[in-house]
Amino acid sequence: MANASGFFAHPSISSMRSRTHLPIAVSGSGFCVSKRFSKRVLCSSLSSLDNNASPSPSQYRPPRLVPSGCKLIGSGSAVPSLLISNDDLAKIVDTNDEWIATRTGIRNRRVVSGKDSLVGLAVEAATKALEMAEVAPEDIDLVLMCTSTPDDLFGAAPQIQKALGCTKNPLAYDITAACSGFVLGLVSAACHIRGGGFKNVLVIGADSLSRFVDWTDRGTCILFGDAAGAVVVQACDIEDDGLYSFDVHSDGDGRRHLNASVKESQTDGALSSNGSALGDFPPKQSSYSCIQMNGQEVFRFAVRCVPQSLETALQKAGLPASSIDWLLLHQANQRILDSVATRLQFPPERVISNLANYGNTSAASIPLALDEAVRSGKVKPGHTIATSGFGAGLTWGSAIVRWR
Ligand code: ACO
Repeated sequence: MANASGFFAHPSISSMRSRTHLPIAVSGSGFCVSKRFSKRVLCSSLSSLDNNASPSPSQYRPPRLVPSGCKLIGSGSAVPSLLISNDDLAKIVDTNDEWIATRTGIRNRRVVSGKDSLVGLAVEAATKALEMAEVAPEDIDLVLMCTSTPDDLFGAAPQIQKALGCTKNPLAYDITAACSGFVLGLVSAACHIRGGGFKNVLVIGADSLSRFVDWTDRGTCILFGDAAGAVVVQACDIEDDGLYSFDVHSDGDGRRHLNASVKESQTDGALSSNGSALGDFPPKQSSYSCIQMNGQEVFRFAVRCVPQSLETALQKAGLPASSIDWLLLHQANQRILDSVATRLQFPPERVISNLANYGNTSAASIPLALDEAVRSGKVKPGHTIATSGFGAGLTWGSAIVRWR
């Protein structure tokens, strides 16, 4: 079970606020504790040695990074222009607006078409997030692209880094975790900032599941849409930390309920059992099958695991659900949102939902909904948000964060 406790164990807000300012010192774990974090800060245990004494080799220690806090400071989003309504879908599969809206809450979705690309959407969302954060592209030192549908099999993040104009060639890589991708991207950003000395991290959630939907399958084609959302996570003083806690999990057993696998028939039989090439070598070019989903099982998984995960994250943050301003779940199905909110006794007016307009946009859904809520003035600086992503893998994870 993956979880971010240990390193991320966050003091309760009250204990964090009462924390006294400490001078830089090396802790037992080898990390330094610092009053202030401005940029990469290194310190060495040699600082405790007498300057005139010549240390023996065993007394040398490599410099240590000072862990810092991190917070969300900007958001942006982008959607393709082609809008597909429930009525449009009713022209290609046996369905209707009433069934889709009642069972899912979805009325429209956006779908990439023509010259649209996922990289293009991601760059647009990221540019808006950087503008809101007032961070220049050259000051970004990590780009995390959370997607399961990259334009390039080898990853889209470096292309985005280049298109944004990040002139210092910062690290950029993809994270594949379907609808949990964005939350896992936040976890990764926090790891990089707290343990790696990174300062400005761009976390992008973007997916184009429309490319992998079977448009003749009414059980799945009604659900998905394409979009991109992005946030800037910035290092800050530990006292100002705004990523309070995480709780993250995976269960490979559940993969049978939701997947889009390489087509087996195209990879079988290229080699004999002793490894020598047979007549059908080289193998045919691979492709992926469309999304296969057991909707009821995924539904059951979500309403069981998401509340548990959120409760754990709240506990780690030392916050009761009543202190949370907004519940922001992966936008999969309005009935899932309602069920989780009821279980956590969250009033419906504090649950963010934009499912009706976009459907399930996978890794993009949380940052897209966050960005809309921020720009409409719903989510204000200082608000606390409980967020949770869940989906294929199976993977699921929650985070308790503060907006700015
Ligand atoms: N229009 C009309 N009828 C339909 C449609 C449709 N689009 N789809 C299914 N039906 C029919 C079925 O054939 C079935 O008919 P039957 O009773 O004659 O056999 C009936 O409606 C009920 O079907 P169910 O599958 O039981 O419908 P359900 O209420 O479970 O809703 C849904 C299906 C919306 C897919 C739901 O199960 C769901 O939302 N599951 C969760 C999906 C999800 O959250 N995915 C998130 C992860 S995605 C990711 O990670 C990439």
